Amino acid sequence: MTIRNLDDLLGEGVSGRRVLVRADLNVPLDKQTGEITDDGRIRAVLPTLSALVQAGAKVVVCSHLGRPKGAPDPQFSLRPVAGRLGELLGAPVHFAEDTVGDSARSTVAGLADGQVALLENLRFNSGETSKDDAERGAFADQLAALGDVYVDDAFGAVHRKHASVHDVPARLPHVAGRLVLREVEVLSRLTGDPERPYVVVLGGSKVSDKLAVIEALLPTVDRLLIGGGMCFTFLKAQGHEVGTSLLEAEMVDTCRNLMERAPGKIMLPVDVVAADAFAPDAAHDTVPADGIPSHRLGLDIGPETVAGFAAALSQAKTIFWNGPMGVFEMAAFANGTRGVAEAITKADAFSVVGGGDSAAAVRALGLDESSFGHISTGGGASLEYLEGKTLPGIAALEN
Ligand code: 3PG
Ligand code: MG
Repeated sequence: MTIRNLDDLLGEGVSGRRVLVRADLNVPLDKQTGEITDDGRIRAVLPTLSALVQAGAKVVVCSHLGRPKGAPDPQFSLRPVAGRLGELLGAPVHFAEDTVGDSARSTVAGLADGQVALLENLRFNSGETSKDDAERGAFADQLAALGDVYVDDAFGAVHRKHASVHDVPARLPHVAGRLVLREVEVLSRLTGDPERPYVVVLGGSKVSDKLAVIEALLPTVDRLLIGGGMCFTFLKAQGHEVGTSLLEAEMVDTCRNLMERAPGKIMLPVDVVAADAFAPDAAHDTVPADGIPSHRLGLDIGPETVAGFAAALSQAKTIFWNGPMGVFEMAAFANGTRGVAEAITKADAFSVVGGGDSAAAVRALGLDESSFGHISTGGGASLEYLEGKTLPGIAALEN
């Protein structure tokens, strides 16, 4: 792999140069107040930004937020992120009202050495996500005109073939930022020769979203622990009734096939917390996994399952965890996720947390981030990396 990184760029000298940094500042916002509920992704890009500021670069940051439809949409504005970024950097961040228009050009032109600008949401422009190479290319031309050199530090977006990720590096000298470099180093330890036992915990709502990664991991892991909404399709495949729990009926045969292919490797819940409704105050009980009442739905794994998963994790030397074990946003259904997360922190293992949701769960549950080996900022990106797919954003840096 011949990827140049930030140190190579700093070695060349960046004082007075416009450095266009693609970051993933796609942070969760409170639906009511619009406030940032988890700033982990902003903090993750600080090492790169601070190094550039200290070296006297004119730092031009760009990012997407949410999934606006190629036109300005105020609920997805990056303005609140500019405020938070400024607080964390300890210096004002000059916010451009558009991405590549008059405001962006004048904001960038007005930067002094060591100052930082943030452009408005990349996805307010249809060229960013276009499937048409020419449309994406035209937008990439405009974006590239705002920098002399490009740094990709948006690990969470490297699996997207988008203009800012895939096409801009073809137009400017380019390097990987500190975050992208660290993420790739860590994840390559998992795909390389992980220390064993290698235990993977998967949760989240859909088997169909995780099928490719399960297929890729099954031959290499020693144990695969499955919780979250997706466990009910597996329980169904084991012949259990799952009441009104989340079920992907068309995936039942696939799940049965996966279990048959690797006998004993996949561990499923033996008990679940079953509730009357999907609500924080719904009546609920712990029931055996083969005894979910027909009118109830499972919203968390049960305590016996947590104990079993914890025992498997305590043996592990390498752990990867993606996806919550239950509806952790509701206190009544957070114990499974908390229990598994705590078991991971106690294990004498190299542990990696992948995925926006699991990373947010770690912080929302008040767990100590430093007791995990690495918390990835990428959800889809880390899964696709483990699947062994070519990631457009990484491939673009290799050229
Ligand atoms: C994420 O949140 O997974 C990344 O920011 C990528 O966002 P996307 O899935 O909307 O491309
Ligand atoms: Mg995503």
